[in-house]
Order: sequence, then C-alpha cells, then structure tokens
Amino acid sequence: MKNITILGATGSIGDSTLAVLDLHPDKFQIFALSANTNWQKMLDLCQKYQPKIVVMRDEKSAEKLQNGLKNSSKNSSKKSANNTQILAGKQALNDIAAAAETDFVMAAIVGAAGMESGLAAAQAGKRVLLANKESLVLAGDLFINAVRENNAELIPVDSEHSAIFQCLSGRSGLSKIQLTASGGPFLHTRLEKLQNVSVAEAINHPNWSMGRKISVDSATMMNKGLEVIEAHYLFGLAARQIEVVIHPQSILHSSVYFADGSTISQLGRADMRSAIAYALAYPQRMDSGVAALDLAEASPLEFYPPDLDKFACLRLAFAALEQGGNACAALNAANEVAVDGFLNGKIGFLDIAKIIEKTLEKMPNLPVDNLQNILENDQKSRQIALELLQKL
Ligand SMILES: NC(=O)c1ccc[n+]([C@@H]2O[C@H](COP(=O)([O-])OP(=O)(O)OC[C@H]3O[C@@H](n4cnc5c(N)ncnc54)[C@H](OP(=O)(O)O)[C@@H]3O)[C@@H](O)[C@H]2O)c1
Repeated sequence: MKNITILGATGSIGDSTLAVLDLHPDKFQIFALSANTNWQKMLDLCQKYQPKIVVMRDEKSAEKLQNGLKNSSKNSSKKSANNTQILAGKQALNDIAAAAETDFVMAAIVGAAGMESGLAAAQAGKRVLLANKESLVLAGDLFINAVRENNAELIPVDSEHSAIFQCLSGRSGLSKIQLTASGGPFLHTRLEKLQNVSVAEAINHPNWSMGRKISVDSATMMNKGLEVIEAHYLFGLAARQIEVVIHPQSILHSSVYFADGSTISQLGRADMRSAIAYALAYPQRMDSGVAALDLAEASPLEFYPPDLDKFACLRLAFAALEQGGNACAALNAANEVAVDGFLNGKIGFLDIAKIIEKTLEKMPNLPVDNLQNILENDQKSRQIALELLQKL
C-alpha cells in the first residue's frame, strides 16, 4: 500500500488523480490533500476520502472547512470525517509533501505557487508525480539536483513528457524529441482576429478539459513553451534537440527520434488519467479507466509546424531557454501576471505575449542558483510585468 499526498486536489489534475485512485483502493491510500480556497469541494473530498491531513493555502478557507466538517459531523452519524487535521499556509503544504508518512506526491498546484511544495517532496526523497511544469521552469537546476541528491523519483505527468518518458525507457541513441501540440482553440484563427477573442473562447480547448490558466496557456501556446523548458530539465536535452509539431487531434502525445532513423511515439486518448496511472504504477502498468484507442476511429492524424509569428509565446519560450539564467523564470512570472490580466478582462489576448517579451527585455539576465534568488527574481519579474500591464 502506498500513501499519497495530492497537492492541488480540487483541480482538474486532482480530479483525474482521484478518479484513477478510486479504481485501486488496494494499492493506494490518501494521506493528505491540499487546495487554495475551494473549501466546499475539499469538504466533499474529506467526507469521501477521510485524509489524515488537509492543507488549505488560504487561512480563512481552512477555518471555513474546519467549521464545515464540524457541522457535517454533527448532522451525520459518520464521525470519522472529523478526524482529518486541517492546516493552513505555505509551510504546511511543504510539510505534507515531505511527511514521513507519504510515499508519493502528486504535484498538481497551478503556477509558480506549486514550486516550493514540489521541491520539498523532492528534497524528502519522494516519488514526485509532476504535473506542475512551472516548478521546473522556475527552478529547474535546483529541482533536478534535489531529485538526484535525495534519491527521489521524478515521474512526469504532463502527457507529452509522460509519452517521452515511456518511449525512452531503457533505450539509448536518442537524437531529438518532438512534443506534439494541439494548437489550441485558435489554431485556425487569423492573427489579426486574435486581439479581440474573449476569455470564454480562449479557455474552450478543443481536446482537453483543464484549469483556466493552463487553458489560456494552450491558446497562446505558452503551455508548449513551458513544456519545452520542462523537457530540457526532465530529459537533459539542449533546446536544439527539442521540437514542437502541431497535431490537432491530440492522439499522438510525443515522439523520440533515434540515431538509427527510428522514431518511437506514444499514442492514446486525450485523457490525463492514462499519464497519471502510468506515473502511479511505474514501472508496471495498471487500469486508468481510459478506453483503448481505436486508430481507425481516430483517423486522420495530421501534423504540421507551428506558426511562431502567430504563437509568439512559443518563440519567446525557446528564446528564454537559449538565454538561460533567470530568463525562463522571468518568462513564467510575466506569463502568470499577463494571463491573470487577460482572465480578468484587463488586457487583450495578444497583449499576453507583448508583456512577456517586454518583461524579458527589462529583466537583467542573472544566474539563479538558490531558492532565495529564485523567489526574488520571480517577484521582480512580476512587478515589471504588472507595471507593463497597467500601462496598456
Ligand atoms: N489539467 C490538465 O490536463 C493538465 C495537463 C498537464 C499539466 N497540467 C499542469 O498541472 C497543474 C495543475 O493544473 P490544473 O489544470 O489541474 O489546474 P486547476 O484545475 O486550476 O487546479 C489548480 C489546483 O491548485 C490549487 N491552487 C491554486 N492556487 C494555489 C495556491 N496559490 N497555492 C496552493 N494551491 C493553489 C487549486 O486550489 P483551489 O481549487 O482551492 O483554487 C487547485 O487545487 C498546472 O501546473 C498545469 O500546467 C495540467
């Protein structure tokens, strides 16, 4: 029996993880769950899973959850939900990630906010199931060193990286990898129409059902840019060994190209439960609840190169990776500020890339090698991006 902590349990990846765990009560037990503010959903999760600990990042939400649990146990004969210990704040997130009682940690908080708890899990030598790509974008070297030095296991959950991880298993002679990208909701929208697209249009992904931030990232293709940086750290590859190809059907999840001219790809339905089940069961495989692929039904599968003028965010991510130092972290911070501005109706869709590009120009390029300067760099980049946003 493996004990698991799910960071970001109330999100889209949290839902899929719990759906996979529901199929295997004999193999996994939930130790701890976390969320930010969604105490109502967490109340339901407490009643269903009765975790030992729950952490709400937001203190007021932790109080509301505590009261909700008290009231529900008064009104029900089931007293056990009350045994869950409710904690709040950032340190408590790190603690449940590093706790001796947990074996696996699903890192599925959205954005830079997920970095420190993921890092804490790596430092504690856990199996880290990494959905939070921003951790590597922000603190790649630090994170990978923590995994190495503490004998942690880092298993990617992003479907493309899971695909490459699966294709690479035990094979040598790699020449390059290719990440597939669906192209998002605006693949066929002309550039001049993009400035006025609405939030609802931007988060309406054709193939994947995801949280709002990553859905906007998919529409700008920054999601693919973050994944390029994630792949650099996960697989130790130079930027020139990482390619992106558009594949609107999201059936082929990614490919590895070998020195002898062979290509190995991983295919499956666009459902995150497959990659999550793989990361949980590795090196075995287990039922994920996802049906097998029907290739005839999925045909035709199309592939073409991305338009880097239209999807400027992808171009900026490659440029930041080439630049190194704090550029990837600055890119991530500016993206989070700009996406938030877009989601709140403050800027247009094309302004997202403009804010990121200008932030990168304004931020001095410096090395980032410890947690303190990673966090300072993140804050400084956010400040610059916010000033740019307010001037637009
Ligand atoms: N969704 C996908 O299919 C997919 C695929 C590949 C990779 N990923 C990656 O997985 C991560 C999660 O994505 P998602 O789509 O599941 O996001 P989501 O649906 O927005 O869920 C985010 C989770 O993080 C929590 N959270 C938000 N802000 C937080 C903060 N400041 N501190 C602590 N917890 C916080 C949320 O809690 P509340 O509910 O209380 O707000 C929620 O549990 C992202 O890094 C994304 O890039 C997602």
